[in-house]
Amino acid sequence: MYRARWSPDTASYSGGLVPYGPLSLDPASQVLNYGQSVFEGMKAQRSAAGRLVLFRPDRNAARLAAGAARLSMPPVPADLFVTAVTEAVRANAAWVPPTGKGALYLRPLLLGTGPILGLGPAPYYDFVVFASAVGAYFKGGQLTPIDLVVEEQFHRAAPRGMGGTKAAGNYSPVLVTQLAAKKAGFSDVVYLDAKTDTFLEEVSSCNIFVVKGKTIRTPPLSGSILPGVTRASIIDLARSCGYEVIEEPVPVADAMVADEVFTTGTAVVVCAIGSLTLRGQKRQFGQPGVPTPVALELYKALTGLQTEAGPDPFGWVFPVTETK
Ligand SMILES: Cc1ncc(COP(=O)(O)O)c(C=O)c1O
Repeated sequence: MYRARWSPDTASYSGGLVPYGPLSLDPASQVLNYGQSVFEGMKAQRSAAGRLVLFRPDRNAARLAAGAARLSMPPVPADLFVTAVTEAVRANAAWVPPTGKGALYLRPLLLGTGPILGLGPAPYYDFVVFASAVGAYFKGGQLTPIDLVVEEQFHRAAPRGMGGTKAAGNYSPVLVTQLAAKKAGFSDVVYLDAKTDTFLEEVSSCNIFVVKGKTIRTPPLSGSILPGVTRASIIDLARSCGYEVIEEPVPVADAMVADEVFTTGTAVVVCAIGSLTLRGQKRQFGQPGVPTPVALELYKALTGLQTEAGPDPFGWVFPVTETK
């Protein structure tokens, strides 16, 4: 794994590759007490061209830096971020699955590790990148549509809160809803906006899109949803495939009468929603177990590009090893 420490003496990060292992923390460390923690998630693939590639790492670098600023942490410079993920992939190259069989998931973490008892920012920080081989995110497999339920009890984030950052603190509160949904037979929940309980927000770990004819709508980046790298990419890809894509508040009622609904994220890639349940009413999209057509088309377009099986007109693929 890669580990770099920010120290107040130099006001900069310095570090390098170290063996994977535990982090030793002072019980008074800021992160354990007050939660200064932001993270990222990205994938390295073994591409069809025979090299190891990342996808738009500059986007993850920018999002981590924005989250760091929101939590009063010293942002990791973009060039250090890209160096760290690149070195982590090279050091773990043996663990990158064969093309199309999975990916090497990278988890950059920025933690306020320095001790402080009163509420305040940590005196020092650690930036860590570790890796793990992964397959499909949902248990049915990559292309199996998922059954979601609209969450009625809790909201995920509020306007002017921090839902738009990948802060660790945004994730534990979703577990109670996610676990209840799983117990009831769903894969996950869809959150509604905290102000009116009317508009779609996102899923616990992915963004959401609603399709009607050749028009695709997705909630705008208003600060309460995560600005997904996959979301941004699917907007551009869908437009290049001839769809009109509109970023605007989408009433959940529209999703219930849409042609199809799908989610996007680094972990889920593009995943069709097989059914959506709102206040006990279930809407089935397409045939059970079969991905809906627009989700499938965009899944193929995105994964073809990410694995270099097709062209990369946007220049999104970032080679980590040059061997062809
Ligand atoms: C809450 C949330 N929304 C959306 C996403 C999708 O973002 P991305 O496409 O950058 O993985 C994620 C995953 O990182 C997430 O945690």
